Amino acid sequence: MNEYRINGSHRLQGELRVQGAKNSALPILAACTVCRGVSVIHNCPDLTDITATINILRHLGCKVQVENGTVTVDSTSIQTHHVPDFLMQEMRSSVIFLGAIAARMGKASLSLPGGCEIGLRPIDLHLDALRKLGAVIHEEGGHILLECPEGLQGRVISLSFPSVGATENVLISACTARGTTTLVNAAREPEISDLADYLNRCGARITGAGEGIITIEGVRALHAAEHYVIPDRIVAASYMLAAAVTQGNITLKNIIPAHLGPVTALLQESGCDVRVREKQLKISAPPQIKAIPTVRTMPYPGFPTDVQAPLMTACCVADGTSIVIETIFESRFRHVPELCRFGADILVDGRIAVVKGVPRLHGAVVSAPDLRGGVALVLAGLCAEGQTFVRELHHIDRGYEKLDEQLQYLGADIRRIEDEKEHTAQNADPGLQQ
Ligand code: UD1
Repeated sequence: MNEYRINGSHRLQGELRVQGAKNSALPILAACTVCRGVSVIHNCPDLTDITATINILRHLGCKVQVENGTVTVDSTSIQTHHVPDFLMQEMRSSVIFLGAIAARMGKASLSLPGGCEIGLRPIDLHLDALRKLGAVIHEEGGHILLECPEGLQGRVISLSFPSVGATENVLISACTARGTTTLVNAAREPEISDLADYLNRCGARITGAGEGIITIEGVRALHAAEHYVIPDRIVAASYMLAAAVTQGNITLKNIIPAHLGPVTALLQESGCDVRVREKQLKISAPPQIKAIPTVRTMPYPGFPTDVQAPLMTACCVADGTSIVIETIFESRFRHVPELCRFGADILVDGRIAVVKGVPRLHGAVVSAPDLRGGVALVLAGLCAEGQTFVRELHHIDRGYEKLDEQLQYLGADIRRIEDEKEHTAQNADPGLQQ
């Protein structure tokens, strides 16, 4: 068991380079399957989800090398269309391999990703879209067998919800389909545009990525290419919020400010001074931020659901009452009971959380409930008085590269404890164990 030990109330200051986007790197690496040859993908973050993706690529027969954030994938000799259960279960978003393997091999066999900590997460939209393209899909006992008896055929596909993953599966599989695919109500997240940029470099003909309607003209085959993954807007937003709760003053480098629009606007409303210059952003927080009257998570360009949990930590210490509405996932308030251990005042009714700001949080022993919820707890530890222990770090390791080292660099007193013997909470102040 690993945990973070945090001594709170240190002001964050300094500069940080933001890692590459996990949610871009994952579909791009999966798409390497379809792009024959050696693709070189730069700015890949060092995360357990990336390792899980590389394990699947290697199982398929790709030769993969990783060096200093650059992942080189040689997809020349893919040998199988089957991904075993244990590899699929390592990461929920492995469903992105469905379209990629189908497009490359004409069939795919893999297990269904289960629900996860933040909700049921069905894949009906992915399967419906692939069926429209001509795939015949059998689902049995948690397994999916997909075949394309007559190859994939371009079609008009309309998503009932702009699912990020379903949009990615269509993009990857439709590039080499016969004819033109028009995807209506596509997700508009920047990671979709990044994937389309990579695919276009590989010879695809995709237009409209980043908009609600995407057109994909099928080509005979895709070749490999070199690509730089965009910066991670969710990680950048998390550090902005870390500054907001610690009266911090930090500069984030290697960001795309436009991708942070809704987060920046909200933090400015709460009293933070946010200045943007080309690829960097400087945020200075006031002694106490103001409450956010109402924030509702929405598909891009709305406020990202992935920033909801860390934002809630900021609301916990803001002056006044904030209302946070989660519209994307059904169980994305699992950080709330943990935040209450710090002394936060939060009331949840369904998908609405009412957060009354308190003058200060106190240290607590807590467990990360999921990836972003885990970071919300780290932020609470950073601004709380006294000592905090955050457990279940495997959730956080899925999405944040060296979080402890980055925060130390900004002046936080945070340490990762790996060794059983050093562990915590038995040795911690009993007052913390509530
Ligand atoms: C991606 C991101 C995740 C982010 C989410 C929403 C990756 C690896 N993950 O997840 O960090 O929180 O977008 O911005 O990029 N849904 C269905 N049926 C489907 C697909 C989705 O009902 O077939 C529902 C989901 O249960 C969820 C909502 O649609 O309630 C959004 O899901 P989706 O946009 O697909 O998110 P992911 O691609 O899973």
